[in-house]
Amino acid sequence: MEIIIATDYEEMSRKAAAFVADLVKKKPNLVMTVPTGSTPLGMYRELVQMHREDGLDFSGVTFFMLDEYYGLSPQSEGSYYSFLRNNFLLPIGIQNGQFQAHEALSPNTAATCLRYEKEIAKSGGLDLVVLGIGHNGHIAFNEPGSPFDSRTRLVELSMETISANARFFKSPADVPRQALSMGLATITGARKVLLLANSQAKARAVAMTLQGPITTQVPASCLQRHPDFTVVLDSSAASLLESKVRVK
Ligand code: GLP
Repeated sequence: MEIIIATDYEEMSRKAAAFVADLVKKKPNLVMTVPTGSTPLGMYRELVQMHREDGLDFSGVTFFMLDEYYGLSPQSEGSYYSFLRNNFLLPIGIQNGQFQAHEALSPNTAATCLRYEKEIAKSGGLDLVVLGIGHNGHIAFNEPGSPFDSRTRLVELSMETISANARFFKSPADVPRQALSMGLATITGARKVLLLANSQAKARAVAMTLQGPITTQVPASCLQRHPDFTVVLDSSAASLLESKVRVK
């Protein structure tokens, strides 16, 4: 595990963008996930700027969504599909075939989740999983209690997650109660994992993830066992870490 501590959100975003850009240059047909939430917005802004000003080329990259609210139309404002298209994929000129999205309206979730796993395998597997983290240690929508061997599936959201994400909706009642999410085994099966976290509100989840026991009660703690795991934090998110960590 490598832990990089940036001074603030802007520096965290630049470091994360540089990490991704470096991999895209080394492997133009990279297969990677695209996270949602407030955390990666700065990284997306940096990557869009690199695309526009330095010609960073994403035309060979394949993107997989990590998760999506179940039952929301992709076109609706609160969907992760809309979030990703508006904040990242359209500005970098991504074509439809390059972006794999969960079928959030499918009545047969078992079949669509299996198809998703097959698409990942067909693309040669995930080179890079980029992740944010929830206050309760969830990654994608793998809530506490999610099995470490879980695959893409329909999940129930916790009340904590629903209220944390309510800011993206008109009212908390509008937040869907279920989601489709890559599983923890899908995530840890990636060749590289990059986790981002900023702000004091994430400090406890970060400390439990990186230095606590490996337990399904803190889903992200499974990443401790990943052989190629990088974490980029701002100083507030790193504030509860013990000093013995290897810091770059
Ligand atoms: C949601 C997403 C997660 C994300 C988390 C943190 O629950 N499903 O993938 O990591 O929110 O979001 P934020 O960055 O807004 O704190």
